[in-house]
Amino acid sequence: MTDDRRPRTLAPPERRIAEVVEARRLGAYDLIVARDAIGPANPRPGQFYMLAAGERWGADGDGRPYLPRAFSFARVRPLPGGQGADLSFLLEDVGPGTRRLGELAAGDPLALLGPLGHGFAPPPEGRRPLLVGGGIGAAPVLCWDDELRAEGVEATVLLGFRGAGHAAAADLFVGAPEVCTDDGSVGRRALVTEPLRAELEADPAATVYACGPEPMLEAVRALCAELDVPAELALEAGMACGYGACFGCVVPTVDGYARVCVDGPVFPADRLVAHA
Ligand SMILES: Cc1cc2nc3c(=O)[nH]c(=O)nc-3n(C[C@H](O)[C@H](O)[C@H](O)COP(=O)(O)OP(=O)(O)OC[C@H]3O[C@@H](n4cnc5c(N)ncnc54)[C@H](O)[C@@H]3O)c2cc1C
Ligand code: FES
Repeated sequence: MTDDRRPRTLAPPERRIAEVVEARRLGAYDLIVARDAIGPANPRPGQFYMLAAGERWGADGDGRPYLPRAFSFARVRPLPGGQGADLSFLLEDVGPGTRRLGELAAGDPLALLGPLGHGFAPPPEGRRPLLVGGGIGAAPVLCWDDELRAEGVEATVLLGFRGAGHAAAADLFVGAPEVCTDDGSVGRRALVTEPLRAELEADPAATVYACGPEPMLEAVRALCAELDVPAELALEAGMACGYGACFGCVVPTVDGYARVCVDGPVFPADRLVAHA
């Protein structure tokens, strides 16, 4: 279901080496900024990169991590001259790949391929953008908020996290996002879909953009269907290649199976099949 209206910037065809220029802990996450001198300066929010930590990849123990891993960029700063960019990535340590990437330090090489996939489509005239991020799903929401701001659009941003450690990611946002946590340690004790419902019931003339864990995305999809509000959802799936070759990332849609890496990762919510 490739749709040419969905924004994307094409990737140079080969894996290249960027240099880590900043690496730090941000609450429960790792933040790395990589200088990609060769790639495009304008990846589209929602697009992603396949990353591998140079020499710190594979080889020991059980050989994992062997394949590169998929990550949304969280922020882009074009380099002077119009070519290349500093790309920020927000990482959650869930396994060997994210752990090794999180161990990178300034000066280390970062192998990357991208930008890949399709990003968020701008809201139609008359509809305000309402951005929703859950956990590490805050990453593509951040660069989408940055881009809308650069165009003079102030979006409403709602973020949900497990607790204070993860909610540190909210500090990266320029405005004042509404933060919910599961334990009430920061912001409101609520699921992020609660303020989303309130926002939509008060003013349904919105387009919702969401990224987060599967149950959150399913709740957003169902809520937007109930209130007849268009939504774009950035999905995650296990990815082996990232460019359409392996069919390892397929999801069911109303048009049949789609590959998250090339047909998404952003999909219109009304094309996705409801989860039980
Ligand atoms: C388009 C896209 C954008 C992403 N953006 C980010 C991001 O900005 N920051 C971030 O931290 N992570 C992001 N991810 C998830 C990230 O790719 C996985 O967490 C990573 O591949 C895990 O690798 P690992 O070796 O650390 O752990 P593994 O041992 O490979 O996996 C650890 C656990 O996570 C599960 N898992 C692995 N990959 C995925 C996946 N893609 N989706 C759902 N579950 C998975 C596994 O089943 C396992 O249970 C993104 C994934 C996709 C597809
Ligand atoms: S990751 Fe290989 S087809 Fe999508």
